[in-house]
Amino acid sequence: MKPQRDLSHLNFILFGGDYNPEQWPESIWPEDAQLMQEAGVNMVSLAIFSWAKLEPREGEFDFGWLDRIMNLLHAHGIKVDLATATAAPPPWMAKNYPDSLPMTKDGVTLYPGARQQYCPHSVAYKTLAARLVAKVAERYAQHPALAMWHINNEYGCHVSESFTPAGTNAFRAWLQAKYETMDRLNHAWGTAFWSQQYGDWSEIHPPRSAPTFVNPTQQLDWKRFSSDAILALMKMEVEILRRITPSVPVVTNFMGFFKPLDYWAWAQEEDLVSDDNYPDPLDPQAHIGSAMRYDLMRSLRYGQPWLLMEQTPAAVNWRNRNAMKKPDQMRLWSYQALARGANGVMFFQWRAAKAGAEKFHGAMVPHAGKDTRVFREIAQLGSELKRLDPLVRTTNHADVAIVFDWDNWWALELDSHPSIDMSARNLMPYYAALYQHGVTCDFVPSTVSADKLREYKLVVVPNLYLTKDGVGPVFEQYVAAGGHMVIGAFSGISNADDHIWLGGYPAPFRALLGIRIEEFEALGAGQKQQLITDDEESFACDTWRDAIQLEGARVLARMGEEEHAEAPAITQNTFGKGSAVYVGTCPDTQALTWLLARMCAEAGVVAPLAAPPGVEVTVRSGDGRRFVFVLNQTAQNVEVKLAEPMRDALTGLEHAGVVTLAGYGVAVLM
Ligand code: GLA
Repeated sequence: MKPQRDLSHLNFILFGGDYNPEQWPESIWPEDAQLMQEAGVNMVSLAIFSWAKLEPREGEFDFGWLDRIMNLLHAHGIKVDLATATAAPPPWMAKNYPDSLPMTKDGVTLYPGARQQYCPHSVAYKTLAARLVAKVAERYAQHPALAMWHINNEYGCHVSESFTPAGTNAFRAWLQAKYETMDRLNHAWGTAFWSQQYGDWSEIHPPRSAPTFVNPTQQLDWKRFSSDAILALMKMEVEILRRITPSVPVVTNFMGFFKPLDYWAWAQEEDLVSDDNYPDPLDPQAHIGSAMRYDLMRSLRYGQPWLLMEQTPAAVNWRNRNAMKKPDQMRLWSYQALARGANGVMFFQWRAAKAGAEKFHGAMVPHAGKDTRVFREIAQLGSELKRLDPLVRTTNHADVAIVFDWDNWWALELDSHPSIDMSARNLMPYYAALYQHGVTCDFVPSTVSADKLREYKLVVVPNLYLTKDGVGPVFEQYVAAGGHMVIGAFSGISNADDHIWLGGYPAPFRALLGIRIEEFEALGAGQKQQLITDDEESFACDTWRDAIQLEGARVLARMGEEEHAEAPAITQNTFGKGSAVYVGTCPDTQALTWLLARMCAEAGVVAPLAAPPGVEVTVRSGDGRRFVFVLNQTAQNVEVKLAEPMRDALTGLEHAGVVTLAGYGVAVLM
């Protein structure tokens, strides 16, 4: 991992949000700054969508307004996460450089009028963006309010691939660098199939709209290329910023499990990971989804603190039906980020917009002003967070790792596969089962080293369809040395070129798992089958059924259906000093809860507290301190038993034996 810039100036919990002063008359700014102080805001993200205001005509720059607001914020003790402003080009760019516009796979050009209308491969965009970044960096390099750089915004959010001629050329160059010869490309892409053999690089196209399934390796390489090409834009900005302000940390904001960008590679290029998270209050599992992405965010830079860069205090505006967070739910969900390693809680946005497509999006200062429930909840949170500054030097330490790869995600969800239901969504039941047990997980990529894996007592691989060379032996070493592993269905199927590993599935893991699979079948949409465990519990499974032959493994659960009665469904193999479980179907969360309870017990993984259902408990420690977060994700009062007397860092109250939390209540115990 590349080293991180010094973050010691960020030795407090960051609290604030996106601030768009350019949407308001300057006469409002002093009131904003004063209200920010009242709310406990200590940092804002500024100028994210200000390119048109900073460069109203090509080559003509106006920084006067930004100087004034930077100075005003500094005078009020508010730090700035200053944007490079490259996320939304001004309309003049499209007029002066029409080929800067992005194009869909059907050849449709995307025009100005919204945002992010640039092709990542456009030379004009890159040149103009680089010039703007340098101007902004030079101007504010020494500004005392500058705390970090906010690069672009949510890269790839609206446009994650672009099929322009420039994109086609860049793809060909990327392929040439990767394969060097046509022969190698033809072999990797398996072009002997359907008369696809290429004679020259210029014959190759991106996977555009085509008569039927486009070559899978071509599709996979296009995804890899598109993630790399957008990452190159960020690297271009990072290089400029590092040259002009070598000690200022650089950050870009991620979007959780965002399929188009391989965040393992991305996170290495910045100093601090940050996430924008908009859980749907109508989804009863929303908090589990948040826990999962926060664990991912913490893992991307291997346990270093990260930031919740955006969330809404109230509702969003972009779903069909935009539910409000309930009273206290915004507070609870903010603590959830801290509970999983965040060192800051920020919002989109400071003041609710009066015009534009986001005028119905929630904000820290709603349309009705400061005399509102939302502003009061914001101010309460802002004042509480000041008590948690010692948290910044702590993090979570997990005993369980989940293997997750973007390459695998892309390959798994390609078309022309056995079942459309075999997708990355199958990760969730595994995570949810561990969550029910109160177990915090790290994520690791499949190419993780054996040394890193050994830090974990249990490693869960919900799916690893695409298994790269060398992964099988590392997993074997881990288990042989005493580790415990659970591998989900349709894993170990293809290599990095998406060619099948031959010799019975899952070939790279057959010895480890002690099984051989001759065939598998997709179950019908919504079709459930019965799963009976070796202790005669009955659960449901769906989507998939492997025909497992035992080659040393024992059966933990079998299929209950008469036609495959007694067929092994979940197996366990002793391998060296450890054991490896294979799950040859998609069990429901209850079944996985059963399985993972058993595996946690075998591996010696225990939850920090025995909490009632719906209560999330995590621990952050370091620097001689230990904080236990107890989060009541239910609307009812709950009682949580404590093993020892503890003090709540938020209220200062001592709790002996038990802590009682109101619905959506939070305690941070020391
Ligand atoms: C994203 C963007 C913000 C805003 C919010 C609205 O996170 O980064 O600019 O559009 O969505 O939810």
